[in-house]
Amino acid sequence: MIKAVTGTKDILPEEIPNWKFLEKVVTSVFDNYNYKEIRTPIFEETKLFARGIGESTDIVSKEMYTFTDRSNTSLTLKPEMTASVVRALIEHALYKKQSLNKFYYISPMFRQERPQAGRLRQFHQFGAEAIGSNNPLLDAEIIIVAYTILKKLGLKNLTVKINSLGLPESRENYKKLLREYLIKHFDKLSNESKKRFQTNILRIFDSKDEQDIMIMQNAPLLLEYLDNESLEHFEKVKKALVNAGIPFEIEPKLVRGLDYYTNTTFEIISSSVGAQNALCGGGRYNGLVKELEGPDIPGVGFAAGMERILLACENEKILSLEEDKFDLYILAIDKDFVDIVFDLAIKLRNFDLKVELDYFNRSLKAQLREANKLKAKFALFVGGDEFKNGFYLLKKMSDGTQFNIPISDWNKLVSIIKES
Ligand code: HAM
Repeated sequence: MIKAVTGTKDILPEEIPNWKFLEKVVTSVFDNYNYKEIRTPIFEETKLFARGIGESTDIVSKEMYTFTDRSNTSLTLKPEMTASVVRALIEHALYKKQSLNKFYYISPMFRQERPQAGRLRQFHQFGAEAIGSNNPLLDAEIIIVAYTILKKLGLKNLTVKINSLGLPESRENYKKLLREYLIKHFDKLSNESKKRFQTNILRIFDSKDEQDIMIMQNAPLLLEYLDNESLEHFEKVKKALVNAGIPFEIEPKLVRGLDYYTNTTFEIISSSVGAQNALCGGGRYNGLVKELEGPDIPGVGFAAGMERILLACENEKILSLEEDKFDLYILAIDKDFVDIVFDLAIKLRNFDLKVELDYFNRSLKAQLREANKLKAKFALFVGGDEFKNGFYLLKKMSDGTQFNIPISDWNKLVSIIKES
């Protein structure tokens, strides 16, 4: 049997209402904050991500779905959206039309990671990018938007963690200090961290290896070596979050897995899911637009994992969805009427009613069972003596009220159904 590829998932009809509910909350909050939706292609030239995210990151070095097309161009299924949004901003010179562009997106992403609960190879993110201003209020706004969406869904067990990575220059100075510290413990580092020592030393803070964690406990912290400009920026972000009533913790070890960050980084963690507990993450990226050959303008953004959020909602039992409304089930009293029932259903659907009928020539009793199963508000009986006398029998399922509707009186039929 051919199955879905490891790490990918079908979203079955029964799960769709949860996704739609999540999308509705996401779009309504982004709309309130004046973020505009952007949709970019599912694949891009590989070099966009290599340059945007960074060659030495796990995403670029091990996780991308990369292939060569027939014209020998290396393409990659998008592992994240920030690089794509920045590419689109530059390609369409959107920064010339307005000095601040606020985008949001909802899209599938692809990373060849080891699948586990909350970690997939095709997953979905919603996220936002505000490009054009270095105002720390925008860093705060991005965190507030993310937090507001999660709260609006009803999620409780959330922790907002923030950090600042400072400017690239102060970071380089700090990296020297970290290298000096780690060289003394180098032999005891895990193999993975030994590699990261060369390629991406800050990521050693993300190691799950116990020995590494012990070593990193006494490592110098970037936050203590920040330049004044970055410190001031960070203070303003914190103040805006306090004013907005957003609870947060400072996490000096929060380095994030993508290379483009400068200054603020953040994650929102949930204790309602397993090991993969980051519901969203983001931060400021002031060098990225220039790195991708655009103007030297700053940006800040975040992305959230939708599968993880839905898992948290499920575990906190907060997805109490409205019942799907179902207007009408049309029943054929006997086989002679099935064609009339089919035509009638099409006509009534054109009046914007949700209508179903039986496709198996089932008995009247079985048809009624279906109507009940679908929780139809009304049943319309076609055939029998009523039909011979020029009427349909309409029955309200909740209390059994019956209406005789003249066959040609569409208005009456539709209005009774719509008004109830
Ligand atoms: P990221 O931390 O790589 O950041 O991903 C953001 C969120 O996507 C994670 O917190 C997680 O919820 C979800 N996620 C990531 N990988 C997986 C996976 N394999 N399976 C399920 N969910 C996953 C970014 O992608 C940045 N582009 C965020 C950003 C936007 N920074 C600035 N602007």
